[in-house]
Amino acid sequence: MSVDTKTGDVVPKEDLVTLTIDGRPVSVPKGTLIIRAAETVGTVIPRFCDHPLLDPAGACRECLVDIPDAGNGRGFPKPQPACTMPVAEGMVVNTADSSPVARKAQEGMLEFLLINHPLDCPICDKGGECPLQNQSMSHGRGESRYGGVKRTYPKPINISAQILLDRERCILCQRCTRFSDQIAGDPFINLQERGAVSQIGAYAQHPYDSYFSGNVIQICPVGALTSEAYRFRSRPFDLVSTKTTCENCAAGCELRTDHRHYKVMRRQAGDLPEVNEEWSCDRGRFGFVSGRGDDRVTTPLVRQDGVLRPASWAEAIDAAVTGLKAAGRVGVLTGGRLTVETNLAWSRFARTVLGTNDIDFRARVASAEEESFLASQVAGRQLAESVQYADLERAGKVVLVDLEPEDECPIIFLRLRKAWRKKHLPVHVLGTHLSRGSVKMGATLVPTLPGEEPASLERLGADGLVDAETIILVGERAAAVPGTLGAVVDLCREHGARLAWVPRRAGEVGAVEAGCLPSLLPGGRPVADAAARVDLAAAWGVDQLPATEGLDTAGMLAGAADGTLGALLVSGVQPADLPDPDAARAALEGVGFLVSLEQRLSEVAQRADVVLPVSLLEETSGTFLNWEHRPGRVRVVNRQPATPMNEIRVLAALADAMGTPLGFRTVVEAHEAWQEIGPWTGQRVDVVTAPARSDDDAASAQVGGLVLDTWRELLDDSACLDGEEALRATARPLVARIGQRTADELGAVTGDLVVLGDAGRSVELPVEVEPTMVDGAVWVPAHPGTPLVQTTGLALGDVVRVSVDKTPKSDLSEGGVA
Ligand code: SF4
Ligand code: FES
Repeated sequence: MSVDTKTGDVVPKEDLVTLTIDGRPVSVPKGTLIIRAAETVGTVIPRFCDHPLLDPAGACRECLVDIPDAGNGRGFPKPQPACTMPVAEGMVVNTADSSPVARKAQEGMLEFLLINHPLDCPICDKGGECPLQNQSMSHGRGESRYGGVKRTYPKPINISAQILLDRERCILCQRCTRFSDQIAGDPFINLQERGAVSQIGAYAQHPYDSYFSGNVIQICPVGALTSEAYRFRSRPFDLVSTKTTCENCAAGCELRTDHRHYKVMRRQAGDLPEVNEEWSCDRGRFGFVSGRGDDRVTTPLVRQDGVLRPASWAEAIDAAVTGLKAAGRVGVLTGGRLTVETNLAWSRFARTVLGTNDIDFRARVASAEEESFLASQVAGRQLAESVQYADLERAGKVVLVDLEPEDECPIIFLRLRKAWRKKHLPVHVLGTHLSRGSVKMGATLVPTLPGEEPASLERLGADGLVDAETIILVGERAAAVPGTLGAVVDLCREHGARLAWVPRRAGEVGAVEAGCLPSLLPGGRPVADAAARVDLAAAWGVDQLPATEGLDTAGMLAGAADGTLGALLVSGVQPADLPDPDAARAALEGVGFLVSLEQRLSEVAQRADVVLPVSLLEETSGTFLNWEHRPGRVRVVNRQPATPMNEIRVLAALADAMGTPLGFRTVVEAHEAWQEIGPWTGQRVDVVTAPARSDDDAASAQVGGLVLDTWRELLDDSACLDGEEALRATARPLVARIGQRTADELGAVTGDLVVLGDAGRSVELPVEVEPTMVDGAVWVPAHPGTPLVQTTGLALGDVVRVSVDKTPKSDLSEGGVA
């Protein structure tokens, strides 16, 4: 029996090819490259351009082997590259281990590569983990016969705000250009010039613009590509590496986090074939410094005479307990970025210590329909029954509903693009236009204005475009459009299609699982089900749990503003993330008592009566459940002597002081408690479909304006990216996209300024005419700090007036408030 190392599938005997490598017989699947066949018997052939996830290039010639018999009785007169040549039945391959010809060829190639390569290894970022260094040792001559002058270039050049290129170090393997073209679909760097001055470069008219640019640094086999963020900051051999899971979205990427002297220096993509393969997005790679700024909170703070002042833990906990006990009804906002264990601590704290179901993790648009959808389709699911990354590659078709994978879950984007490249996977996107990411996946547009999703879904079913081979991925924006989530569930049930919910934040699936919702207890137990409450109460060792469903985020903020709630407990939620930031700020100002568990002196912390500092994610451990429900371990990367307690310990201390112990006080204990609870096996809640917007509503809404389509892009002004200015500088420019017909009606061309909104509540943005845009729509990025959200209060599906401003403006890059 032989197993395909790429797919893990058993290969039938008739599909195997038997050859001889260094005198040993080897059987591998047809089509296997010689370099991989050699790996199966433990023979490592040196290589630079070869990468198992990129198409072969044969660029560096380092992998030359001697082939005295190609399987047809005749050999090759010269050594051949093992990375481009597939095996053949009866082939005889001799590597440098057994062939002086192969050894001489490999030594010669290394000598050539080193002719122009500078020997600046002591100061090169790659020194110590450099394939060129390593293979010079293992397969090189040891000394060079070259006595001439090495080629040099001005250095470094910025090919983007983040990525720097030292051309004289480059060995022209083209891993970077092939990654950008094949994997990310951003072919903005290429091989330029000819002969001795061949070099990698970006286009003069277009910078290297990619959400995945950091991968080229990691796969460059020399130190030619470096980052603004890490260049010259440390040596690889000074770093301590820890495998952990990224906190930036629900993709669940494994990361290798490297730290030195209590400071994380860099993050690299881990190697997890089931999830991120060997890639990561730039947000995950570079966006980890926000917690280290001057606004880090490490000491409890208590408000006295209107001012926050440092306090002891005992004093702060006492103040919090006094305020919470006096407040009456208390609401809990937990945000979407916590581990399962921390979510469970909050869920239990709310139910057993505060005696309330007023808890919600959704610091974003939300609805009651979504809550029932989460209870019915998400809570209590196990990985084995969920859609997984590998299923996306095997699917007959993928339909995306209110989800823009490149911005919202970049590893799903990479998988869909891979499936499209390898097998032309049909991807259908319900939306107003084909975004850049959609084009890169070869997607087909199902023209849909925000609000029309239920009708489009019905049409897809009626047209026979959904079947049992179809996977529907639905994003969190679907909560903003009544009837969408119900329609998705109906469609899947009717046609046997599979369904997965892809939230934006890393902790959202875990929050559903832990029951951080007003109508849901851990493991999918409905609050309204007495048997589910009794089951959980028994697991938690309490007499009973509150039976009334609680308020959602919007309800709690309204309750805080009107006095229904006397206090709020808030963890990691920012007003700017919420659909109505001003209303959220007013609620936080107006609530009787506010306790903030925070890492930084955030907007919420600044308004709080008591601030309890908590550790950064890199200082604690836990589990994220990604969109597939796959557990990803978060490991302690570094822990300083002055590191505050993690959130679970803080909640446990608060619970003790409130007189009802939490039941656990460490991550390990919380994890065990989560495992013990398990999924609910009783009656489950079904999705309660909200009435969809009527055609009359849609028609009247469009009179005098365009329907606003919007989502948050991967890189924006969110607080999570504070301190990483080079990364922020690679964000896409703010634009308003309109269709050709709208542009003609407005008399606008790409680059003109348009005004969105009414007098007093408007923004100006440069226009981008998008050929695929449906009539009647305008798309604008929903960055939390942009004038669109902060000034106009406009949201997805709203109707916005758009007019042209032809007055020349000096700086269009950030838009402006009119
Ligand atoms: Fe290869 Fe690095 Fe040069 Fe790109 S920059 S061609 S990855 S050596
Ligand atoms: Fe084979 Fe580069 S590794 S040619």
